[in-house]
Amino acid sequence: MEFIKLSLEEELAVVTIDRPKSLNALNSQVYREIIATLRQVEAMDQVKVVILTGAGEKAFAAGADIAQMVHEDAVAGRRLSGLCHEAANLLESMRQVTIAAVNGFALGGGCELTLACDLRIAADHARFALPEVTLGIIPGGGGTQRLARIIGVGRAKELIFTGDQIDAQEAYRLGLANHVVPRDELMETCRALGKKIASRASYAVFLAKTAINSSQEIDLKNGAEREKDLLGLAFATRDKQEGMEAFLARRPPRFQDF
Ligand code: HXC
Repeated sequence: MEFIKLSLEEELAVVTIDRPKSLNALNSQVYREIIATLRQVEAMDQVKVVILTGAGEKAFAAGADIAQMVHEDAVAGRRLSGLCHEAANLLESMRQVTIAAVNGFALGGGCELTLACDLRIAADHARFALPEVTLGIIPGGGGTQRLARIIGVGRAKELIFTGDQIDAQEAYRLGLANHVVPRDELMETCRALGKKIASRASYAVFLAKTAINSSQEIDLKNGAEREKDLLGLAFATRDKQEGMEAFLARRPPRFQDF
């Protein structure tokens, strides 16, 4: 991998987009490497939480690579959009919980990667935007879909129609950032949150992730049916037995991940 660094820390995987001279701009190769890395990590049993971040102090990722896109026609643009979607869909649906550690600019395709993560923790200097209309295009990595689902249609329209950047506090106020922390505490905050989630019954966390994701795709009646099915599955696990027996015995649970 040229542009992605993977560091394994017991139950955590830290995936770093590493192209700081271009503010971690996402060209096709970077997207392909993100996709390959996430697939690799998804197959690692010991990893429960993935933290995605950007190298350097300045940016998470300043968007898709404009120096690449300027030469591209409609077919190539659509192909690039396919890669953006593939990376985003993986972050959203993979077995592990995904946390975006937003260490600066998260613009365009960079912002879209954060939107696909389960949780977003922002450093206090982070800035979010979908500035595509300032370049004559529209978001192409799920931004028009996920931003509206996270912060509401009206606010998403204003951000996408203006292309304006918002700071970390505004992102928190809108419900886009789960927490805002001083920049030198960002990774430790993400690691602590990741470890807490990793200490829970991880298959149950995955079932909950799947059920919550369903709420964004199907109506309430069918979503409730899906929740019942997934809860039934949870009742079939050893972790359910262990969690409940441990509670009743007043001891900590020892989960086995199923
Ligand atoms: C390519 C980029 C880049 C990008 C920054 N760089 N963003 N290169 N693609 N998206 C490069 C710059 O060209 C420059 O390279 C270096 O990174 C540092 O950037 P500066 O602009 O000099 O830094 P600064 O003045 O601090 O401004 C930071 C910034 C600005 C506000 C983040 O770089 C910026 O506005 N970038 C573009 C943001 C954007 O529009 N993103 C959306 C892209 S569209 P050199 O070699 O000169 O040092 C998109 C669509 C997704 O993401 C869907 C597609 C299918």
